[in-house]
Amino acid sequence: NSIAYIINDSEISAGTRGASLGPGALRVVDDNSKNFLFSRYPIHYVKTMNHLLDKPTEFQWGKRADGLATVYKNVAEVVSKQRKQNDFTLVIAGDHGSAGGTIAGLKMANPENRIGVLWVDAHGDLHTPYTTPTGNMHGMPLATALNEDNLESKINDPLPDTIKFWNEMKNTGQIAPKIQAEDLGFIGLRDLETPEVELMERKGIKNISVNELRSEGVRNILSRLDEKYAECDEIYLSFDVDSMDPDLTSHGTGTPVDHGISIEEAGIILRHFAGHPKVKCIEFVEINPCLDEKTNRMAEVAYGLIKEVIDVVERKA
Ligand code: ARG
Ligand code: MN
Ligand code: MN
Ligand code: MN
Repeated sequence: NSIAYIINDSEISAGTRGASLGPGALRVVDDNSKNFLFSRYPIHYVKTMNHLLDKPTEFQWGKRADGLATVYKNVAEVVSKQRKQNDFTLVIAGDHGSAGGTIAGLKMANPENRIGVLWVDAHGDLHTPYTTPTGNMHGMPLATALNEDNLESKINDPLPDTIKFWNEMKNTGQIAPKIQAEDLGFIGLRDLETPEVELMERKGIKNISVNELRSEGVRNILSRLDEKYAECDEIYLSFDVDSMDPDLTSHGTGTPVDHGISIEEAGIILRHFAGHPKVKCIEFVEINPCLDEKTNRMAEVAYGLIKEVIDVVERKA
């Protein structure tokens, strides 16, 4: 099984700085543990636009949309190339904003493939420039993959230039949409705004809540998800570390939300999908060591999970 690591330090889409240091924080844990996980396979770096953070953005309802459209192209190109050349790609990114570019890259590598997405997160990340409460584009990647504006729930009047870049993101690789609403699944959502809830209701997109996960049992949920993705050709799992309970991860992430999944539950989910024959790409995002209340705790937790993913993928037939 050939594996490619893709590291994308992009952090232009979060409301608080520091997520670009997440991938580096993981390497500190790697060095301390002497596993040398990151020297096992080649690392491919994505060119970021983080210099844009040094000046104010002109786009209120899609901050640094100009930069993110470029990051989408950059990440999509690297993901597409590595997906074609390897059995498995592990993406480690700064904030979640660039994950729409990852999905674009998977679709560009295999345009005929029906791609299932499992989004493990406290947030739906289904906003658009027309609905965002903050303008932070890490709340929008899934809407780009769905080619969705959600004008039915419109609240904001974004600038024409914002929409120009927004449309570029949705059309990355000249394929839109990349995924169908019925092929999108969520685990752990607990902080949604009304436009996201309305979109999910209109499209029939379901969340598996933390309570449901516990009352039904993780194993039962996983077999339900396997059935959900039965028609898909490949599956992409996006793991936002804020899906986990901040009390267990010492709040080392930009938008922590109480009452998340446990580290053990995250491990069961990740091991299951890492071993799933259709899963070709798993992404980890939103590790922010600057916000950590206990030195590098979130990176330690995420590193443990990443190591389990790699161990399972290495044993996969
Ligand atoms: N829904 C909120 C917003 O749009 C929070 C999004 C947080 N997203 C994330 N990937 N952490 O600002
Ligand atoms: Mn997210
Ligand atoms: Mn989140
Ligand atoms: Mn707390």
